[in-house]
Amino acid sequence: MKPSYLHFHGFTREPFGADIEIANILETHQVRAVTDRFDYAVRLGALGLVTGEVGSGKSTALRFALSRLHPSEYRPLWITASSGSILEFYRQLTSELEVETNTFSRAVLLRIIRGQVLDLATKAKQKPVLVIDEASLLRIAVYAELHTITQFEGDSKPYLPVILVGQNNLIDLLGYRTSIPLASRVVARYHLQGITRKDMDDYLQHHLKIAGIPRQLFSDAAVTAIQQGSGGLLRRANHLARGALVAAAHEKTQLVSAEHVRMASTELI
Ligand SMILES: Nc1ncnc2c1ncn2[C@@H]1O[C@H](COP(=O)(O)OP(=O)(O)OP(=O)(O)O)[C@@H](O)[C@H]1O
Ligand SMILES: [Mg+2]
Repeated sequence: MKPSYLHFHGFTREPFGADIEIANILETHQVRAVTDRFDYAVRLGALGLVTGEVGSGKSTALRFALSRLHPSEYRPLWITASSGSILEFYRQLTSELEVETNTFSRAVLLRIIRGQVLDLATKAKQKPVLVIDEASLLRIAVYAELHTITQFEGDSKPYLPVILVGQNNLIDLLGYRTSIPLASRVVARYHLQGITRKDMDDYLQHHLKIAGIPRQLFSDAAVTAIQQGSGGLLRRANHLARGALVAAAHEKTQLVSAEHVRMASTELI
């Protein structure tokens, strides 16, 4: 059964959801900026960095950039990092490469990964592209070794472009002495910031449209309140917008006001 606020406003689906399809991703200038850096790093077989606050749209922008690679030419590999050991990282990567192995030997895993990357790049002609999301969680030991899976033939063949995605401390992690070999391979980086008041207007309307409402339900003051209350960060903006729609429906009001946004904000941390 649909929650009553969906009925009241006439939504065809839950608005401001986290499960946004590729086709519904709004091509903001930030998404385009990430895609440009991504394409450049992929072309050079090098390293790209995407940083930003929690909920600023990093993973979504990367999903968009990856989706534009032609599947017959590229093999996207997506890892959501954990704070585990390098062994766990290698096991995650072998699984993403669809190699079955029971080994817990670092050396063997490394050999398997390098072999698989080489095969993809040279035999299958499907250039692998690795995105490591939540890379700010990786241990420093992983940063010290990561470059060894990207380079081949005495460092002359950069077969595995890597895009590291994470919060701002990613930059600090790359500043460690042991991370220098990896950091030296960075050719492009981009930092996502909160969106502006004007972009927030477009963003809210876009999400309303995806959920079946082709008109603006938020008053000017409500848009400003969402932008200020979220600092332009999209996940928080989603929660504020959805909460404000619930509050407005509760009062049987179609137009969402700044007061509805304020009410929604008291429910968030
Ligand atoms: N370009 C976009 N178009 C439409 N919605 C977006 C876009 N970017 C982000 N969003 C919305 O914002 C939410 C948060 O974005 P996302 O998960 O990409 O942020 P993040 O920076 O990766 O967060 P975290 O730091 O927690 O990993 C998404 O679930 C989606 O609803
Ligand atoms: Mg993310």
